[in-house]
Amino acid sequence: ATGGESPPWYPSPHGGTLETWAHSYQKAQVMVQNMSLLEKVNVTTGVGWSMGLCVGNTGPAIDAGFPSLCLQDGPLGIRFADQITAFPAGLTTAATWNRTLFQERGYAVGKEARGKGVNVLLGPSMGPLGIAPAGGRNWEGFSPDPVLSGIAAADTIKGIQRTGVMATAKHFVLNEQEHFRQGREWVLPDAISSNIDDRALHEVFVWPFAESIRADVASVMCSYQMVNNSYACGNSKLLNGILKDELGFQGFVQSDWLAQRSGITSALAGLDMSMPGDGYAWADGDAFWGKQLTIAILNGTMPMDRLNDMVTRIVAAWYQLGQDEPGDNPTSPNFSSWTNEEYGHLYEGSGDKQMGKVNHFVNVQGSGDEAHSNTARRVAAEGTVLVKNEYGILPLNPQGVLSASRKPYRVGVFGEDAGPGKGPNACPDRGCNQGTLASGWGSGAVEFPYLVTPYDALKESFNASKVEVQGFLTNEITDKDLENHDLCLVFVNSDSGEGYLKWGDIRGDRNDLYLQKYGDELVQKVANNCGQDKGDTVVVIHAVGPVVLEDWIEHPRVKAVVLAHLPGEESGNALSDVLFGRVDASGRLPYTIGKSLEDYGESAQVLYFPNAVVPQVNFTDGLYIDYRYFDKHDITPRYEFGFGLSYTTFELSGLLISPVRDRSMLPAPRPQEPVQAPTYSDEKPDAKSALFPPGFRKLRKYIYPYLSDLSEIKQDYFEYPKDYHKKQPPSPAGGGLGGNPSLYETFVIVTANVTNTGNRTGQEVVQLYVSFPDNVVDSDDKFRDTIEFPVRVLRAFDKVELDPGETKKVEFLLTRKDLSFWSTRRQNWVMPVDGVFGIQVGRSSRDLPLRGEY
Ligand code: BGC
Repeated sequence: ATGGESPPWYPSPHGGTLETWAHSYQKAQVMVQNMSLLEKVNVTTGVGWSMGLCVGNTGPAIDAGFPSLCLQDGPLGIRFADQITAFPAGLTTAATWNRTLFQERGYAVGKEARGKGVNVLLGPSMGPLGIAPAGGRNWEGFSPDPVLSGIAAADTIKGIQRTGVMATAKHFVLNEQEHFRQGREWVLPDAISSNIDDRALHEVFVWPFAESIRADVASVMCSYQMVNNSYACGNSKLLNGILKDELGFQGFVQSDWLAQRSGITSALAGLDMSMPGDGYAWADGDAFWGKQLTIAILNGTMPMDRLNDMVTRIVAAWYQLGQDEPGDNPTSPNFSSWTNEEYGHLYEGSGDKQMGKVNHFVNVQGSGDEAHSNTARRVAAEGTVLVKNEYGILPLNPQGVLSASRKPYRVGVFGEDAGPGKGPNACPDRGCNQGTLASGWGSGAVEFPYLVTPYDALKESFNASKVEVQGFLTNEITDKDLENHDLCLVFVNSDSGEGYLKWGDIRGDRNDLYLQKYGDELVQKVANNCGQDKGDTVVVIHAVGPVVLEDWIEHPRVKAVVLAHLPGEESGNALSDVLFGRVDASGRLPYTIGKSLEDYGESAQVLYFPNAVVPQVNFTDGLYIDYRYFDKHDITPRYEFGFGLSYTTFELSGLLISPVRDRSMLPAPRPQEPVQAPTYSDEKPDAKSALFPPGFRKLRKYIYPYLSDLSEIKQDYFEYPKDYHKKQPPSPAGGGLGGNPSLYETFVIVTANVTNTGNRTGQEVVQLYVSFPDNVVDSDDKFRDTIEFPVRVLRAFDKVELDPGETKKVEFLLTRKDLSFWSTRRQNWVMPVDGVFGIQVGRSSRDLPLRGEY
């Protein structure tokens, strides 16, 4: 049921119980053993907003040899830094469906973080997952499909962590809208509660986090809002139960910035690091942890064992990534988030006047073949989805159309979205929609080092002696502007971002799915009048997610439509790569384009006005996210999930389904913990050692672990959370990274052939969907539940490049988890042993020519 409470789950599981982390935990134990109480507190607590050079900075344990950590955004590049790459957003990346590119992009972002001295990169994002297509931050993540999102997140993490930088899987979990994500920001006493049932939580929203943990992610960030009426960063079921017990997470949980809502309680619930350290307000010096944690240990309310685990998790993650052996990499940030000058304040937020060299201007963009702009360009090009292409109008010919009666061939480029506007960095954190759209806004955006506009790149791609290209880089065009063109390219867009910024009346989440800045009108005007209605129109859309195209999609003179998503700095180059066919159109939609916002269902609507003191959203259709909702209710979308055209044609054949194991209802019993978590003596230090050292120069509002006076250690009454002393049994679904290892055993191998039947090289995305058997019942002596399933769910995909006439075999492995549902009664994954699974292979969620059974 939804709308209820989140069950208690205690005590917090210790890190250090799995083999693959054992070595790091051994080293961590040696170090933590030598830490004083104050050092331990320091490691868990940020020093306060803008008190260090990064957006998050922990206190060091100097004597023990553990540094202050630099935590920096974000999912598409290094925020607040110079000479970095503005990569395409997660959404664009997902639209490539290219696992090589997922890793390559992750690796490049990781390299840049490493080169700037970042310890913990605050990405990738997989929450919001995107159940609400208008949700403001969906573009930071990948796709509302949990499997596509999970694979993209896992590959990204592997890429990032190969560089030795810790990645962060965020935001855990169900931060599906920006409105009311926090109380303070929205002038409410509390944040919104996302209410979800246990099955949808597991099968949909937690899925990509499970994949991230399997990929060995070092850190998880808990989200701002509540889940089932308990704050995500203090929710013991989510952090202790699901993340640390069931999914075997060995790293540390950090709070989103000011998402912590309690002191000891959040520690007991499984939070390991408080970010940015402040409690209620930015840079206010008052913390839930810091000295409060010191007090709580000294007066006995907070168990030392929990603090030890918190610190050990952080230190072990640092060892796991090899950060104790940095080699040539910087060991502290060589840039400042707060100034572009070479010299600046070391403790900006404190008002302290101490200056130092804060920007070393290190170029981390890579060069030559290794230039990260190459990766950015490839991702942006492959993340461009062609949805309409009539009479083969695309790819464009750089010479124009040679048989055209009029010479030169005349091309008009229309719309503000094709041009530079006031430059890509005109608004802080990209918090406005102007010029060509290449990123959404918020903490997930970066300062663009440059931005190649579509107009400039198009101009360069056409042969200037044969083609005349004219730009009208505004949305206010006249009929006269439209005269005398053979071809009109019209650029339109739709933007959104994080809730602390608003643009016009868009407070993070979009208010609808239409094009912005009168884009729909602009397209119609161009299509109606291009070349006194003799020209062809090509529409290019930059957007943060699905847009409703109904006003004009069937217009007879709209010959082609291209969804270029959020392409990053190489925007124009990548777009012209696709428009001119230098690369195949190989992007596929990572979401459904419905005919209206209502078509996505009730659970997909943003709540724009508080409906209670603590606003409540009930995801009653949580299992039926995106295409699963359209399929269930037989709603015809405009373009379905997984859809996209290529410049060539493909044929699928030869489906082969080979079972490799016999079905059985439940995974193997949870394996015994192979390793013992570190243990420490719980001896408490002498309280006097917690006092500020004599003569200490205190910075204003800086968060310290020290006490000013021993009288602060008073014994307050503390009410332990409900059922705190009732030890929860380990989940049968746990026992390894990402869950019980038995869940990831292969049950079926599926192969198929894909042939390029056209006359140019191209890439196809072969997609595998599974339908569960009919009439599945989950029952024992006490209960009998009929289980309903989505019509089909994506379980695997592969992108293959083929020359004309070439055939390749694709192979997919289906695991126990792929073929199971989450049983709320058994609290385990259950595989239907009777009945027939449908296995469908094709090129979109609705174009599935190969069908077989298992
Ligand atoms: C965002 C996080 C981000 C953090 C630090 C928060 O507002 O929700 O995604 O990592 O700020 O900038």
